[in-house]
Amino acid sequence: MELNEEKLNALLGQVVTEMGAAANGPLILIGDKLGLFESLAANGPMNSTELADETNTSERYVREWLSAQAASGYVTYDAKSNSFSMTPEQAAVFGNKNSPVFMTGAFYAITSVYNDIPKIENAFGTGEGVAWGDHNTCLFCGTEKFFSPSYEGNLINNWIPALDGVEEKLKKGIKVADIGCGHAASTIIMAKAYPNSTFVGFDYHDKSIEQAKARAKEAKVNNISFEVATAKDFRGEGYDFITFFDCLHDMGDPVGACAHVKEVLSPGGSCMIVEPFAMDSLEDNLNPVGRAFYAFSTTICTPCSLNQEVGLALGAQAGEKRLREVVTSAGFGSFKRATETPFNLILEAKP
Ligand SMILES: C[S@@+](CC[C@H](N)C(=O)[O-])C[C@H]1O[C@@H](n2cnc3c(N)ncnc32)[C@H](O)[C@@H]1O
Repeated sequence: MELNEEKLNALLGQVVTEMGAAANGPLILIGDKLGLFESLAANGPMNSTELADETNTSERYVREWLSAQAASGYVTYDAKSNSFSMTPEQAAVFGNKNSPVFMTGAFYAITSVYNDIPKIENAFGTGEGVAWGDHNTCLFCGTEKFFSPSYEGNLINNWIPALDGVEEKLKKGIKVADIGCGHAASTIIMAKAYPNSTFVGFDYHDKSIEQAKARAKEAKVNNISFEVATAKDFRGEGYDFITFFDCLHDMGDPVGACAHVKEVLSPGGSCMIVEPFAMDSLEDNLNPVGRAFYAFSTTICTPCSLNQEVGLALGAQAGEKRLREVVTSAGFGSFKRATETPFNLILEAKP
């Protein structure tokens, strides 16, 4: 078959852009760890000597790093003054850890994927899973760093108010369980915002629960506790509100998990399920967000589910229709989309 030169050049152009992005990934992490982005955002315009002095780093490395970031469009170069700066948008994405669109965490998680290629490659051959805890440790802090800016920006102000009467109850004081809580970014945000309520975070990964306890101590929140437990066997009953943040699709038996949740909810209690944004069919998810989630799903979420009992392997792009089937087949009578962001579906289920 003859190659269409125009199409070939377009594809090569795309691949060169993405090769640059992949090669620049480590530089994003180095920039984050050494405070290069943060310092440039706060003090720019600066030249490479000024940024190196400010961050106690070597000028030659910083000059090369700045050139790579300018070519990436992540910092701005002014040729006249030979100086670099960050626009408010560039600073929001790379220079400010408290911004709701701070994206650096994703690159920590991507590092874990590269480190875990042998395990994933082997799983492709055997069809077996890879447990969450068997990944390289960057995955756990990467997930926390990637998700928490969005939770900080949305959870208290947009997501909880979109649920039916939950905000009011949380303010008064209720009993809450956060399932698959990881490092507890979501649990701590809620515990701080609603001091009259009590929160228990559960996760089947013991190292994540250790970190969650440390994070709660650092944050000085007292209305919070943690236990190592799976979503199907966590202790307690009479929970008024139960949450799943970006984890239901990672579970081997999400139907069993939802059935257990239904059992331990108090009368009038409800459940919030936060899942990656997705449409219901593959053709509608062939876009940049779907692409990132399908990639993470292949290397992290699907292997995590396949490693557990049932191994339903919903994948990170399950979509509302498939999630509705899971939740209603577990016995929930009511299920609706409460709200959404470009990255998340916020779903509400009631018995
Ligand atoms: C993508 S992480 C999300 C962590 C956290 N909810 C957050 O938003 O930062 C998925 C979490 O689900 C947990 N997990 C997976 N399967 C589980 C199960 N069957 N029971 C409890 N936790 C589970 C993993 O250990 C991991 O912490």
